[in-house]
Amino acid sequence: MAWPETVLAIEKLIHALAIAREFGVVADIADHVAVLQRGALVESGTRAEVLERPSHPYTQALIAAVPKLLVPSRPRQTFGKVMLESIEARKAYQAHGMFGRGRATVALDGVSVTLRRGETLGLVGESGSGKSTLARAMTRLLTIDSGDIVLDGDDITRIPARLMRTHRQKIQMIFQDPYASLDPRQRVADIKTKLQLSKLFVTHDLRVALQICDRIAVMRHGAIVELDETATIHAAPKHPYTRALFDAVPGAAWSHAMATAAS
Ligand SMILES: Nc1ncnc2c1ncn2[C@@H]1O[C@H](COP(=O)(O)OP(=O)(O)O)[C@@H](O)[C@H]1O
Ligand SMILES: [Mg+2]
Repeated sequence: MAWPETVLAIEKLIHALAIAREFGVVADIADHVAVLQRGALVESGTRAEVLERPSHPYTQALIAAVPKLLVPSRPRQTFGKVMLESIEARKAYQAHGMFGRGRATVALDGVSVTLRRGETLGLVGESGSGKSTLARAMTRLLTIDSGDIVLDGDDITRIPARLMRTHRQKIQMIFQDPYASLDPRQRVADIKTKLQLSKLFVTHDLRVALQICDRIAVMRHGAIVELDETATIHAAPKHPYTRALFDAVPGAAWSHAMATAAS
């Protein structure tokens, strides 16, 4: 019986078979690409054939949906007054273990940032860098340990929940699944231009931030290591961590080649 060989072959196959919804990842790791739609193989070929010269509309749509590693050109804007601000915001989470209070995790290490009317500010950084904590602190879904949160001129840092009600009309958290639609950027752009909203946009995906943010704050270990206009962050990232984030974007080389070919 030859079943051990068969098992070995299957192991090798699984090893070589990567299932990805993200074409950037495919560009990084695949030699051959097979595109499946509703259980049917619609296209297959070498990486170059499928990724650079896709023939099936479904493949073309998938590739078009990958956020580009470039900043769309848009008119230079000036924004209104500061609507939301964090001043030296600090937040540590206490670990409550079996043995009482353990080490504290410093999630915000004195973060100061402003958001102006009509502006979209991106918070990027790897998981655990403090993006959600900062967003929750600035929307008063949690109370910071020290520092201040100022909303439209009002200090909301420590006001009780019942007094937050009037401020709640001015501020809201929106949770969005970036893969919920083929082009999440479109929906966000619509909402923003209609209402002149200021947006704090949290994402771990630098490419999405490049598409929709006016400025980007790069977070690491509870601190903002770099904050600049999106075009500047993209063209000339100063902090080594920002450069590392760009290097870690899936399919960076492929995306760059596609962008260059298109322009
Ligand atoms: N409720 C919590 N209790 C304890 N630690 C937390 C809690 N929420 C977040 N943390 C820790 O705080 C740090 C920042 O987390 P978070 O703000 O969620 O970062 P991000 O959104 O960038 O992934 C991480 O080390 C995380 O483990
Ligand atoms: Mg988070």
